[in-house]
Amino acid sequence: MDTNTESRTGSGLPAAPTAWPRALATEAVHAGRDDLAGLGLHAAPIDLSTTYPSHDTRGEAARIDAFAADGALDDGPPVYARLANPTVARFETALARLEGTESAVAFASGMAALTAVLLVRGAAGLRHVVAVRPLYGCSDHLLTAGLLGSEVTWTDPAGIADAIRPDTGLVLVESPANPTLAELDLRAVADACGTVPLLADNTFATPVLQRPVESGARLVLHSATKYLGGHGDVLGGVVACDEEFARQLRQVRFATGGVLHPLAGYLLLRGLSTLPVRVRAASANAAELARRLAADPRVRRVHYPRLGGAMVAFEVHGDPHAVTAGVRLITPAVSLGSVDTLIQHPASISHRVVDPADRRSSGVSESLLRLSAGLEDVEDLWQDLDHALGPGPSASAAAPASASAHAGRGRTAGVVS
Ligand SMILES: Cc1ncc(COP(=O)(O)O)c(C=O)c1O
Repeated sequence: MDTNTESRTGSGLPAAPTAWPRALATEAVHAGRDDLAGLGLHAAPIDLSTTYPSHDTRGEAARIDAFAADGALDDGPPVYARLANPTVARFETALARLEGTESAVAFASGMAALTAVLLVRGAAGLRHVVAVRPLYGCSDHLLTAGLLGSEVTWTDPAGIADAIRPDTGLVLVESPANPTLAELDLRAVADACGTVPLLADNTFATPVLQRPVESGARLVLHSATKYLGGHGDVLGGVVACDEEFARQLRQVRFATGGVLHPLAGYLLLRGLSTLPVRVRAASANAAELARRLAADPRVRRVHYPRLGGAMVAFEVHGDPHAVTAGVRLITPAVSLGSVDTLIQHPASISHRVVDPADRRSSGVSESLLRLSAGLEDVEDLWQDLDHALGPGPSASAAAPASASAHAGRGRTAGVVS
């Protein structure tokens, strides 16, 4: 077998061998580490250098000029850590392999990643964004407040084509969406975008369940803080995309400084190795909890994606704050995608920055709770949730969990009845 097929990526690391296709579980463990055995290493090295010494100043100048011209990085050391980092590049290579894209560019957080995308498009004079609610609360806020000089048109999926203007630089969607888990037909959305790049936030699904580029998305964003890291101990973001867009993102990252720390890059690479196993195990827990919640008279409605996944949202008849106050095993905290199960009240925390009327119209009601299933035994999780849900409502107030259509206009939602 010809193993001498490695090519260089823009990140300066060898790309994965392309002579044979590898399954997702194999890529999760090996991508970004293909050179390790040759280096005599088992774990990826962590390069904490902030600068890279060189006696060849003319050579450095030429490399900086080349980077400034098109964002490409050659094989040499990065000159300065704001241009690139070899440990982070391993994570980028691995994530690109998992998402099926040419490249990936990592950032200090998911919001830094979205910021870089908006800056790339804004710099090209394409400041208008078309977006579908709900989005993660801070993504919504960044667009609505126009903090980066962008202008947003909110629409439903059917309205995307009509909302696109000559200065539209981006269409932004989440599927399944945070926090309602409403799902979109990504292929139909991509078709409606025409030549405008579609950015799909794939944080909730991860490439284990869905690869948006296969449906026509040009950009795939992750809050790597969530499932990619998987242990609640690293903040990061990443955009998987073609190399042309990646070069522009690297230039913005260099100029604005939202880089991922090498230790975070190491932890994210390590997190990817167990991503398929974690997502499948947590998804089984989530599906079972969704089933039990849907049969519970204390629960008004349960949202669980048709795609599956480890997130469950549910609306309660009683006080949602009492549920988050009542859990003892489950962690009452914002964020998601960790090995432990987390629960939070979106209207109070993750979507607090969204205008209350916009929250309501996109299905984020005051009674909604969002649960991120972890890897605990499902019986222990149910015992805790059952206790936290408190005594049942009176017979007159109780109604079985509803299967009515989701409030998010034009979206489909896997509502469990
Ligand atoms: C779907 C989604 N996208 C983006 C973000 C932002 O990511 P970060 O918190 O890493 O900046 C979040 C955070 O919760 C999220 O849930």
